[in-house]
Amino acid sequence: MSDKPVIITDQATDQSLELPVIRGTEGDPTLDINKLYKNLGYFTYDPGFAATASCTSDITFIDGGKGILRYRGYPIEQLAEKSTFVEVAYLLLYGELPANDEYEAFRHDITYHTMVHEKLNTFISGFHYDAHPMAMMAGVVGSLAAFYHDRMDPKDPEHRALAAKRLIAKMPTIAAACYRHHMGWPVAYPKNKLNYCERFLDMMFSVPAEPYEINPVAAKALDLLFILHADHEQNASTSTVRLVGSTGANPYACIAAGIAALWGPAHGGANEAVLNMLNQIGDVSNVPKYMAKAKDRDDPFRLMGFGHRVYKNYDPRASIIREACHEVLDDLGVDDPLLELAMELEKIALEDEYFVRRKLYPNVDFYSGIIYKALGFPTSMFTVMFAIARTVGWVSQWLEQSENPTRIGRPRQVYNGPTVRDYVEISSR
Ligand code: CMC
Repeated sequence: MSDKPVIITDQATDQSLELPVIRGTEGDPTLDINKLYKNLGYFTYDPGFAATASCTSDITFIDGGKGILRYRGYPIEQLAEKSTFVEVAYLLLYGELPANDEYEAFRHDITYHTMVHEKLNTFISGFHYDAHPMAMMAGVVGSLAAFYHDRMDPKDPEHRALAAKRLIAKMPTIAAACYRHHMGWPVAYPKNKLNYCERFLDMMFSVPAEPYEINPVAAKALDLLFILHADHEQNASTSTVRLVGSTGANPYACIAAGIAALWGPAHGGANEAVLNMLNQIGDVSNVPKYMAKAKDRDDPFRLMGFGHRVYKNYDPRASIIREACHEVLDDLGVDDPLLELAMELEKIALEDEYFVRRKLYPNVDFYSGIIYKALGFPTSMFTVMFAIARTVGWVSQWLEQSENPTRIGRPRQVYNGPTVRDYVEISSR
């Protein structure tokens, strides 16, 4: 495709308009429709934003057709193999891999902000014991805005940088506290001598009565999953964070909104839904029945962990997690029949004409739950894991937007309600 502007003509008025083509460093050409309404009087209609770029960004690149995902230019496969979550966090936030001293300074900062105000624990203890942890996370992270409101000016770069580090540091502490509240265990404070994932495992699973030994296989597996979930350009939760951020809202409130968006089963909630689905299917012999349900337009059942708005090829994250699943389960000595069931389901789906024609492949959520389960995480915590990792992406995108503020996000609509009519007194209705 060329970079020449596209000329559109309104046949009714014979008026024409040149729409400039915006080219990024990679990816499809994009038409700039900024002047369309002003010049021709038309809005554009794109429900689900399937054909709309909402911003420019330097952070993450996806080629859905080829199954490519890169953070700041680095292929996800290389980062998964060679990097760590903390290093990836630095990369996403600042655009470059850190030198030794930069890494140490960053690691120090996100380690020494891990504690939360004791009053926050009081807040958590106010929830019912069986509250869903994602509901708690949205509430508790949002409440951080109350703790830091007066000292947080989103226009101040130093304040923004501090909020970003605080959020990355405190998310595991809050997540573990939500879980422990459900379990009825006392709060476990962060141990700063541990690394990011070890510390989280310790806060999740240690109990005062027993020494807790961190399994390095578990810490490494968690680190890998966090790398793979760290960012995914303008997905629903990230777009939510950006939209809320465009109003100048407090960043903790922006991230709470992102958590709420992530929770839905069409988005991050799918990892929990996949495990529930696999349990529901129960046995390989039931796969044909559920495949038929997934293909039936009148049945709301969908194959969870399958399909993606952008990937029309194997999600590269799913390939890495599928591989890791075998290794982690082997290393931990876990034999989970759900892995075999998931692989059989994948095999059948990938050969099925319905899935082939629609280019529906396993996505990041298809296999991740099996690893989380092997590490001892309950199903209800799966999306919380996603939220911890994605916080890095959310704050990176929020920082990028805050550095070059755009106008407030404000979509338009096609109004289909009643046209003007006169008010009728209640006695006459
Ligand atoms: N099972 C059965 N049919 C499906 C599925 C599925 N998982 N996904 C899409 N389809 C069908 C859909 O019914 C439609 O068929 P038709 O053309 O006959 O109407 C076609 O494929 C296109 O689907 P769509 O709903 O228009 O696609 P979308 O881009 O709007 O939705 C999606 C993408 C991820 C929400 C969807 O594929 C889905 O619901 N998948 C299951 C939930 C899931 O795994 N979500 C996690 C996504 S990846 C991680 C993340 O984003 O957090």
